[in-house]
Amino acid sequence: MSGLEFRGVSVRYGHGAAAMVAVDAVDLVVRPGTTHGLVGESGSGKSTMARIAVGLAPMSGGSILLDGVDIASRDRAARRARRQVQMVFQDPLAALDPRMPVGASIAEGTVATGREYPRAQLRTRVWELLERVHIDPARAGDPPAAFSGGQRQRITIARALAAEPSVLIADEITSALDVSVQGVVLNLLRELQSDLELTMLFISHNLAVVRYVADEVSVMRHGRIVEHGATASVLAEPADPYTRELLRSIPVMGEPLDLALDGSA
Ligand SMILES: Nc1ncnc2c1ncn2[C@@H]1O[C@H](COP(=O)(O)OP(=O)(O)O)[C@@H](O)[C@H]1O
Ligand SMILES: [Mg+2]
Repeated sequence: MSGLEFRGVSVRYGHGAAAMVAVDAVDLVVRPGTTHGLVGESGSGKSTMARIAVGLAPMSGGSILLDGVDIASRDRAARRARRQVQMVFQDPLAALDPRMPVGASIAEGTVATGREYPRAQLRTRVWELLERVHIDPARAGDPPAAFSGGQRQRITIARALAAEPSVLIADEITSALDVSVQGVVLNLLRELQSDLELTMLFISHNLAVVRYVADEVSVMRHGRIVEHGATASVLAEPADPYTRELLRSIPVMGEPLDLALDGSA
């Protein structure tokens, strides 16, 4: 199990007078084998945190440590270590090549392992991964369009798992899905996390969703963490007014999410 640690991380977009600070000296620790929820309204800097962790955005200060190795630097060791951090995005349609059978997309994910798979082994691996996300492996040859939104999101999760990550970053992965389907994806994440001992940074603007999956939660506002703690205690006794505001935006407090558990979504 791996731990991911952001230390004094800052990100600035733009230059000179037009510069804006998207992430401002943030410290955040995702403990090995746990799910850390990152919550905050749109524009608070959550996706920027995800992007710097996988090298998709440059940092202006600080470091990101994976098991103590700085993965934000540009050297080879850092790049190799960074492959262990995989990301799943909000929009599975944008993330999957529409002309490619989903099995081929998942197979591409294995490239990050740095190992060559013989053809037969690759097929077996894709089969296993589809089963892991509860999709009929016989459908590996179908294009993304043949699947529902929830199924497509599970396929992008399978592709991320193909890289054998120790850390998974999920950025608003249920935000584009119907509520009934969100539960299926969230339950899958919980299952994967305990089966594979994944370390997870789970990002959402929706505190109800974060509550369902996260052991700890950090609340982000204007590029800063305004509150952090065990999910249960932050939600029971939010110290920051902003967290209380986010809590009020959950429609029905204390009610479980409307979960579809039959996997058909
Ligand atoms: N590539 C970019 N160039 C300039 N500003 C950006 C860029 N990406 C994000 N921002 C700005 O940085 C802030 C944080 O954005 P983001 O990390 O996407 O927030 P969130 O994911 O919480 O909605 C926002 O004000 C956004 O407009
Ligand atoms: Mg975002």
